[in-house]
Amino acid sequence: MTLPLVTTIESVVFSAADIALAIQRMAEEIARDYAGREIVLLGVLKGAVFVTADLARALDSIPGGPSRIELDFLGVSSYGNASRSSGEVRLVQDTSHSIEGKHVLVVEDIVDNGLTLRYLRMLLGGRAPASLAAAVLLDKPYNRRVEVPVEYVGMVCPDEFVVGYGLDYQERYRTLPYVAKLRAEVFDA
Ligand code: XMP
Ligand code: MG
Repeated sequence: MTLPLVTTIESVVFSAADIALAIQRMAEEIARDYAGREIVLLGVLKGAVFVTADLARALDSIPGGPSRIELDFLGVSSYGNASRSSGEVRLVQDTSHSIEGKHVLVVEDIVDNGLTLRYLRMLLGGRAPASLAAAVLLDKPYNRRVEVPVEYVGMVCPDEFVVGYGLDYQERYRTLPYVAKLRAEVFDA
């Protein structure tokens, strides 16, 4: 059954205004910590495209922040079904520039079981960056399978499968300006 988009959203979990405020707060913290430094914001495709773009611009508008902000992206994929990621993560697209000697901030949409971020930290940490940290818009701390440091967290997300602002369900809903919970029947459709 294909439902019209508007009826498939059960509730808005974080509004566009909530997201903007969370990103501004993260940017202020990051700006302080990286003041005067050159930083690479490394967005994880595809979910983190919006948060990476908005965080980059928020950072750029803070006086006294990083002296230079470079953007790069990489893509990972985890095996498993659509609403629960499995343990296996693999790199499907690498960065366009070397990160050796750079201050790298990995930007993710959401951290759930922690395996994706752990994989990325191990992979990137092995490439001799000057420093490595992670900024994640949404933290779902309930189902961690591994402990992994997250230096900057935007908001704590309820233990629900959420979509929007980059997050998808089967490649849909990414372009919503807010984060929402889907109606249960969407998963059964
Ligand atoms: P792990 O579990 O490895 O997960 O920390 C990170 C990746 O899992 C996906 N994920 C979600 N995707 N809504 C989504 O659209 C969610 O609620 C959700 N929870 C986890 C996502 O790909 C993320 O990068
Ligand atoms: Mg993702």
